[in-house]
Amino acid sequence: MAGLRARLRGFAFGGDYNPEQWDRAVWDEDVALMRRAGVNLVTLGVFAWASLEPEPGRFEFGWLDEVMDLLHAGGIAVDLATPTAAPPVWLSHGHPEVLPVMEDGKTFGFGNRLHYDPTSPRYRQHAARITTALAERYSGHPALAMWHISNEYGPIAYTPGAAAAFRDWLRRRYGDDLDALNDAWYTRFWSQRYTSWDQVAPPELPRSWSNPARRLDFQRFASDALRECFISERDIVRSYRDDLPVLTNFMRFYRHADYWRWAAEQDAVALDIYPDPGRDDSRVAAALNFDLMRSLRGQPWILMEQAASAVSQWRVNNVKPPGRMRLGSYQAIAHGADSVMYFQWRASRGGHERFHSAMLPHSGTGARTWREVEALGAELPRIAEALGSGSRAEIAVLFDWDAWWGLETAYGLPRNDFDYPGMVTDHYRPLLEGHFAADVVSFDSDLSRYRVLVVAGAHLVSDGFVARLERFVAAGGTLLCSYFCGVVDPHNQVRQPAYPGAFRGLIGAYIDEYWPARDGETFEVRFADGTTSVCDWWQESIHPESARAVAWYASGSLSGRPAVIQNPFGSGRVVYVGTRLPPATLHDTVLATVRDAGVAPLVEAAPDFVEAARRGNEHAEFLFLLNHSDTRTARVAVPAPGVDLLTGVAVGDHVSLDPLAVAVIRTERQRQPAAT
Ligand code: GAL
Repeated sequence: MAGLRARLRGFAFGGDYNPEQWDRAVWDEDVALMRRAGVNLVTLGVFAWASLEPEPGRFEFGWLDEVMDLLHAGGIAVDLATPTAAPPVWLSHGHPEVLPVMEDGKTFGFGNRLHYDPTSPRYRQHAARITTALAERYSGHPALAMWHISNEYGPIAYTPGAAAAFRDWLRRRYGDDLDALNDAWYTRFWSQRYTSWDQVAPPELPRSWSNPARRLDFQRFASDALRECFISERDIVRSYRDDLPVLTNFMRFYRHADYWRWAAEQDAVALDIYPDPGRDDSRVAAALNFDLMRSLRGQPWILMEQAASAVSQWRVNNVKPPGRMRLGSYQAIAHGADSVMYFQWRASRGGHERFHSAMLPHSGTGARTWREVEALGAELPRIAEALGSGSRAEIAVLFDWDAWWGLETAYGLPRNDFDYPGMVTDHYRPLLEGHFAADVVSFDSDLSRYRVLVVAGAHLVSDGFVARLERFVAAGGTLLCSYFCGVVDPHNQVRQPAYPGAFRGLIGAYIDEYWPARDGETFEVRFADGTTSVCDWWQESIHPESARAVAWYASGSLSGRPAVIQNPFGSGRVVYVGTRLPPATLHDTVLATVRDAGVAPLVEAAPDFVEAARRGNEHAEFLFLLNHSDTRTARVAVPAPGVDLLTGVAVGDHVSLDPLAVAVIRTERQRQPAAT
């Protein structure tokens, strides 16, 4: 990434470029307009397999040679993709075994994309051949700056080949010991015991219920199988040249790939994000995604794709109103992105995404979207000094795929409508709205650098995480924990002898029953300070051991029992919230907890629709302030005077932000360098 930064000498700005959809005559105009817009990087060839290899083993590279040369002559670097996300018809029809079979047993045929079984040896062999041919031809091309492996990996297949691969994966996981698998999957239940490995199969769509441990292992396997495809193509391009970043593009809260494990295999992290412009509050989930991307490798990341305006995936595809695309782009940068990239450069005339917005819309340079893209391209160099800068947070929020899969892969929980990313987002929202910086951590992360950890929806937890968490709190850390955490082990089995299993010591209480609410049922909760709020969805019958109650149910069957408790643990403290608090109460509870832990917000007393984030390097700090309201102006007190890099205007003790405005306030660094 440092190499890419040095080469571009600024934020990467550009998008997916699909010249194979256009006549040769258009390419010169493309490059000229890219230059005009300030584009310095394009992603080439993502879905171009059929144009590159029109028949098995016959390559047509002439057009790509020409495009690479044109871009290079225009000073535009290339993020070259392997085209393996969209196999050509000769592969799908010539070798139908490469097609995926979906969970319902139906084959996903040719005519879309991602129509491949990641475990198919034939698919992998053909993917390796086109990847090798591309690497051989373009590794030395001066335009090449980065390798983009395939595109948005997912989902998995249910073919006989996938079943065999699943069995191999299980044999490795359980040390070839079928008894260990039977124990892990608790196959004594419903007579599911296996007596030979060839009886073990992926969990198909259940007629009624299914084994939760088997589903969980299949999720893990599916993520690993997709990752193997990435690794095999990565290794091919690296074998030709190992000084360029190699990555694939991640998706917003994508359930089928454990991005912590994936990120470790990549040189940098890249994200595609498409918030629905028709929904008001997608900014909180976007910010959490951005913090997750930064945290995956503890580095600046690449915003690989966003929409310049409308997308094409919803029932109604609203446009981004003026100023929203710019604001969203700075939001990504504020949370650590070193780029602003789009899908795509020029709007397609046909195909499914013919009305998906583009940097260059159908109506050309007269369009509002073009003007906004061009203006942003011209503006980004003003903040070039922030490129590569890192950030520090004293709060971490857990987002772990095993926790997600444990909560959502199988029926049979006290309630079966949990939404793991939604729960984590709900607990992250107060931090964002309260202007606190947060990192994201997994079960395997080092927690020792944080003061507060927020854990929500971690029904399944690993033993290693529990041990790390206990050390963290014992050493003085603060844990804020939601209901229904710590209950099952990594095999989806209930931890004994009492709920909440692994968290009993931490929360200083046991729970004898989980009480999901009936539809529409609410219950009053009264806090020690006399305030009350109306909760719903979930209750727990909590029996404090070392904990003390800070809120009690004041109505309903659990009236008088604790709803929120606090427990001292070593030198630290745990706040356990045993019910679903309404957003305002959760907001107050989370913020009181972080303030009690001695963590300060980035700015004090700013309105909640203003977002604050800070990046820094050895010379300076950059405070990003974003006004997400499209009607209200905000006055924000800033902690130190500086200069707004976007306007060049000196900032004293406060800044005024118009609706949708952004300020990037640079202050000279006084203290320790930020970790990058
Ligand atoms: C992404 C994908 C792009 C394009 C975009 C807009 O998921 O990588 O190829 O489809 O969405 O829908």
